[in-house]
Amino acid sequence: MILAASTQRTIGWVLAIVVMVGFVVYLLFSFRIGKRELGSEVELAANRKPYLDDDELETFRLDRALVWSLVTLTAVSMILPVYWLMEPTRQENAIVDWVHRFEKRGASNFEEACSSCHGPDGVGGVAAFTLVDAEGAFVAQVEWKAPALTSVLSQFDEAEVRHILNYGRPGTPMPAWGLPGGGPMTTQQVEQLIVYLRSIQLDQRATTAQIDAGIVAGARTIVTAADAELTDAVDIEAAAEAWLERASDPTSADYLRYGELIFNNPAAQGANSCARCHTPGFSLGAADEDSTAALLETWPRLVESGILTGWQPAQGHVGPSLEGVETHFPTAAHQEEFVRTGSELGVGFGNARSGTGMMPGFGGRVDPDVVDYDTGGDAVYSRVLTPEQIAAVVAYARSR
Ligand code: HEC
Ligand code: HEC
Repeated sequence: MILAASTQRTIGWVLAIVVMVGFVVYLLFSFRIGKRELGSEVELAANRKPYLDDDELETFRLDRALVWSLVTLTAVSMILPVYWLMEPTRQENAIVDWVHRFEKRGASNFEEACSSCHGPDGVGGVAAFTLVDAEGAFVAQVEWKAPALTSVLSQFDEAEVRHILNYGRPGTPMPAWGLPGGGPMTTQQVEQLIVYLRSIQLDQRATTAQIDAGIVAGARTIVTAADAELTDAVDIEAAAEAWLERASDPTSADYLRYGELIFNNPAAQGANSCARCHTPGFSLGAADEDSTAALLETWPRLVESGILTGWQPAQGHVGPSLEGVETHFPTAAHQEEFVRTGSELGVGFGNARSGTGMMPGFGGRVDPDVVDYDTGGDAVYSRVLTPEQIAAVVAYARSR
C-alpha cells in the first residue's frame, strides 16, 4: 500500500517533468520560428492561403474531428470512474503513510529524549537521580529504574500515556515533556511519541516470556536460599520450575509467596511489577529486606528525611498503600477485576474511591480507536498477567 502511494507520487513527478520539458521545447521552437523571415505578407498571411474545398471539409476533415472528439470524450468519461475507484485507496495510503511518518519522527524524538533513561527501543534502563528532602537538602544519589515501555499500551490507554508524557510523574525522575506540563514538546511531538510506542509493544508470546523470566528468577532465589547444596544451574532451574508448579496452586502453603514474586517481578526494570508503584524505594533498589538495608546504610539521610525508612512492601509510593485494601473491595473477585482493568480518570473503584487513571490494567486491552494496519482491525495489546496470576497477586495484596 505504501508502495502504491509512492508509485502515484512518482507518476506525478514524471508527468510534471514531461510537461515542463515539453514547455521548454515549445518555447525554444516558437522563438526560432518567430525569428525566421516570413516573406511577403500578401502571399503568406493565413487568411490569404486557399483552404480545403467543401468535399474534403465535409468528409475527411469532419470525420477526423469527430473521431478525436469521441476519443477525448471517452477519456473524460473513463477518468471519473477510475478516480472514483482509486480515491479510497489513495486516502487509505495517505493515512498509512502519515502514520508511518509519525512513527519515524516519534522514533527519533524517542532516541533523543527518552532512550537515555528508558533504553534503546524502550527496553528499560536507569535514571541517575538526586533525592532531596523537603528543604531541598541533598539526601541521596540513586539509580532509579526506568521501566521498559514495551507493554505500556497494554497497561494504560493512550489518553493516560499522553497524560504521563505531558505532566511526567512528580517525585520520580520522569520529567514533564508536553507543553501543558511545562515541558518542551508540542502536542504533535507527544502524539508522534505515542505512535512510536505502538510500534514497540511486545506481542503476547514475548510479553509472557518476559514475565515468566522474572517470576522464575524469583523462584530461583527462593530455592537456592532454602537449599545451600543446590549449585548446579540445571538443578536450580529444575527446582525453581518445580517450586512454581507447586506454589501456584491456590491451596499451596507457598501460594502467597508466589503472589509476592509476581508483585515484585524484576523483569524489564520492574515494568510488569506492582512493587514499583506500591512499595517505597523499590525502583531505587529497595527490592527486599537485604537490599533495602544496604541502601539505607549507604545513604543514611534517606531515613532522616523520611523518604525511605525500611523494607515496607506494598506500603505505597506512586500508588497508595495496600494495607487494609481488603476493606476497599468486598471480595477478592472485585479486586481482581480492578487489577485486570486498572483505574479510569474520574471513575469510581473499590468502595467509592475515585480513580486517576494511573493504576495500570494487567489483563490486556483492545483499543477500538487505533487501527492495526497489519490486520485491518482494532489494535489489541497483550495481556500482562493471566487471570491465575492476577488472583495470586491479589491474594498476596489482601494478606498485607
Ligand atoms: C531522566 C530519565 C527519564 C527520561 C529522560 C524519560 N523518562 Fe520516562 N520515566 C522515567 C522513570 C524513572 C519512570 C518511572 C517512574 C516511577 O518510578 O514511577 C518513567 C516512567 C515513564 C512512563 C510510565 C511508564 C509506566 O508504566 O509507569 C512513560 C510512559 C514514560 N516514562 C515515557 C517516557 C518518554 C516517552 C520519554 C521521552 C520523551 C521519557 N519517558 C523520558 C525516567 C525517564
Ligand atoms: C504505574 C503505577 C502502578 C502500578 C505498576 C500498579 N499500581 Fe496499583 N495503583 C496505582 C495507583 C495510582 C492507584 C490509585 C488509583 C488511582 O489513582 O487511579 C492504585 C490502586 C491500586 C489498588 C486499590 C487500592 C485501594 O486503596 O483501594 C489496588 C488493589 C492495586 N492498585 C493493586 C495493584 C497490583 C496488584 C498491581 C500489580 C499487578 C498494581 N497495583 C500495580 C498505581 C500502580
